[in-house]
Amino acid sequence: MKTSRRDFIKTAGMAGGMLATGGLSACSGSGDSSSSKNVPAIWDISENKGKQVFNMSGYAAPKIDVIKIGYIGIGGRGMAAVKRMALLEGVEIVALSDLKIEKIDEAKAYLKKLGMPEPKGYADGSQELWKEMCDKEELDLIYIATPRDLHPSMCVYGMESGAHVATEIPAARTLDECWSLVETSEKTKKHCSMIENCVYDFWELLILNMVRQGFFGDIVHVDAGYIHDQRTINIDKAKTWRIEEFINRNGNIYPTHGLGPACQVLNINRGDRLDYLVSMSSNDFTMGPKIDELALTDDFYKKYKDKWKLGNINTSTIRTEKGKTIMLQYNVSNPRPYDRLQQVVGTKAVSKKYPFPSRISVGHEWLSEEETAALVEKYTPRLVTLVGEMAKKVGGHGGMDFLMEWRLIDCLKNGLPLDMDVYDAAAWSSIVPLSEWCVANNSVPVRIPDFTRGAYKTNEPLDIAMAKGGGSTKIKTTIKFNDDYF
Ligand SMILES: NC(=O)c1ccc[n+]([C@@H]2O[C@H](COP(=O)([O-])OP(=O)(O)OC[C@H]3O[C@@H](n4cnc5c(N)ncnc54)[C@H](O)[C@@H]3O)[C@@H](O)[C@H]2O)c1
Repeated sequence: MKTSRRDFIKTAGMAGGMLATGGLSACSGSGDSSSSKNVPAIWDISENKGKQVFNMSGYAAPKIDVIKIGYIGIGGRGMAAVKRMALLEGVEIVALSDLKIEKIDEAKAYLKKLGMPEPKGYADGSQELWKEMCDKEELDLIYIATPRDLHPSMCVYGMESGAHVATEIPAARTLDECWSLVETSEKTKKHCSMIENCVYDFWELLILNMVRQGFFGDIVHVDAGYIHDQRTINIDKAKTWRIEEFINRNGNIYPTHGLGPACQVLNINRGDRLDYLVSMSSNDFTMGPKIDELALTDDFYKKYKDKWKLGNINTSTIRTEKGKTIMLQYNVSNPRPYDRLQQVVGTKAVSKKYPFPSRISVGHEWLSEEETAALVEKYTPRLVTLVGEMAKKVGGHGGMDFLMEWRLIDCLKNGLPLDMDVYDAAAWSSIVPLSEWCVANNSVPVRIPDFTRGAYKTNEPLDIAMAKGGGSTKIKTTIKFNDDYF
């Protein structure tokens, strides 16, 4: 059954009542006849988008010897990315764009220290000057590290200007935006890669390689999440986009750190696909009261009083078409240790990243430290063998940020498909609007669109462990890289 959003909103109150009494008739789902009675519908709020124009999954764009990069957003993430990327051979940072000229000057000073040519700066305080950068410069890659609401329009414009785009997370915040990324990437044959760094964390790469080699058997379930005590940064006055992002919304608005690795383990968009989700949020018990308290003495917070809607903990459960499940949590407003859960459950083994030390088991007990170390030795993927030590030295969340950027550049230089394509960007990001919609509608199950429009059935699995090549990218020999570089 397909129900439009408008139809659903019209009938939502009635459906809520019928669900409460178990009165809604069966519209979807399988199972034995006893359980199919009173099964609620899976609501489909996406538009039918017709056929795929061109399959970007596994697409190898022509090789680029020297990759000319333009950055949009030289704040916390953008500045760090400029510094890491500048180290790589075959990379030229030719243009930088930000609202603030001082950010551009700071990045230029770093590049000068490395003896690199000065990039052109685009900053005059106007919101759309980045478009001039896309129009005027001959860019191969546009790297977007701006506030989240700007990602989709920058990606679309960037691809239409003739460049590949790499965007910070999430890539989009509405289903229409997700589709606009897919349609533009297919039309232009430009990559739109959402640079989800957590898929390059060492443990996630190890587990993915073990999954690929059959150690876990069939994967049945993954627990994933983003649990990070960000009570201060959520309402940081120096980054007002954050509080604007949080206020007035409820759902999982930052799903991809946990979901990205889970989807790779489950071959999502490459054999399987996300089918539907159920999402539920607790109330907020921390941020609203905190804003009320701050507003007593600080006028900045007055306009946000009584507006905070994001529940402390959002839990979404996702079922894939092949009957696998994901439990995805989001919690950035409680005092608790950092955690992305990252528990992979297979028919032969299970792994659990947090709390450290990360563990693996094949039965009732966790394997010993020595047994785990032997597995790490055996299954460390080629990507980590090649670049892992350098990545730890350069850093960026312990090295995963550098691994991600190195891999992006290495794929573009060698004409390899990217690890994260536009379908991943769309599917992983779509959890933002779908979870918000689901929470707002009594947690009724909601369909996750198939952004590959059927191509997932035959798309090749990912080669993130680099079994099939690449690996030529080096650190520039002209750079005297040392430990105090950053
Ligand atoms: N992957 C990760 O681990 C990770 C961590 C933190 C943030 N992020 C993501 O990175 C992005 C940036 O976060 P941040 O912490 O660096 O934010 P930030 O506020 O430090 O930086 C954003 C920069 O974008 C610039 N900007 C804003 N509007 C612009 C415009 N119209 N044109 C050009 N520049 C513009 C701002 O001046 C600022 O310098 C966000 O999307 C966030 O979700 C990802």
